[in-house]
Amino acid sequence: MSDFTGKNVLVLGGSRGIGAAIVRRLCAGGASVAFTYAGSTAAAQALSAETGAQAVQADSANRDDLIGAVAGRGALDVLVINAGVLVLGDPLTLEPDAVDRMIDVNVRAPYHAAVEAARRMKDNGRILVIGSVNGDRMPFAGGAAYALTKSAMQGMVRGLARDFGERGITVNSIQPGPTDSEMNPSDGPMAATMHGFMAIRRHARADEIAELAAYLAGPHGAMITGSLQTIDGGFGA
Ligand SMILES: NC(=O)c1ccc[n+]([C@@H]2O[C@H](COP(=O)([O-])OP(=O)(O)OC[C@H]3O[C@@H](n4cnc5c(N)ncnc54)[C@H](OP(=O)(O)O)[C@@H]3O)[C@@H](O)[C@H]2O)c1
Repeated sequence: MSDFTGKNVLVLGGSRGIGAAIVRRLCAGGASVAFTYAGSTAAAQALSAETGAQAVQADSANRDDLIGAVAGRGALDVLVINAGVLVLGDPLTLEPDAVDRMIDVNVRAPYHAAVEAARRMKDNGRILVIGSVNGDRMPFAGGAAYALTKSAMQGMVRGLARDFGERGITVNSIQPGPTDSEMNPSDGPMAATMHGFMAIRRHARADEIAELAAYLAGPHGAMITGSLQTIDGGFGA
């Protein structure tokens, strides 16, 4: 387990699912962790009590609140941008406001958060965004807008890796496939369809994604930047 003792970490969207697993993993490694959440106060408080991480309410769709949360944490060693929402459905009938909010949370927020973090980030810092294999492959109808948001992360990490590389700061996207969470339960109505696209026909566990995040955030990740780290059981193969 990488030693994160003394590392200043912020996880955006850490109250549940993959984000909560990353909070647990980095706290277990000794980091000083804060995480944001939007509405799940009870889950955030429970995770804070369990791990000692600081819970901060900040809606990623609100740019001022988001930037305030990032700036308020000072000089970060690690920023993990996990907060994301999933809006699926027929594009002809999807609610435009829901699509726009997804773009705000999944695209605008990661960009502004990464840039804000980089203003005061320590040399050799780490910026991780949780993208999705759907940035590479969208094998069913109804996912165009979500896939759009995750493809956008691919361009962002490539560009920001070049902007911040001189300081040793790495910028990468983790691209999970189906991962058991409230967003995508392993026993949900889409599960069998999704498993049909996979070589390893099961949902990942959130802690499996968190372990990859810890690797990239730790000392072994120093030469990995501008990259898309897919962890999807072969969904995109
Ligand atoms: N699960 C999958 O199969 C899968 C696959 C590929 C990629 N991903 C990506 O992985 C990330 C996490 O997904 P998940 O499955 O863990 O989802 P989840 O179970 O729905 O959890 C989402 C987390 O993000 C937070 N969040 C959502 N909107 C936010 C906002 N506006 N401001 C601040 N925090 C916000 C939530 O906070 P609250 O608790 O306050 O709502 C929660 O902590 C997302 O970016 C998702 O697109 C997931």
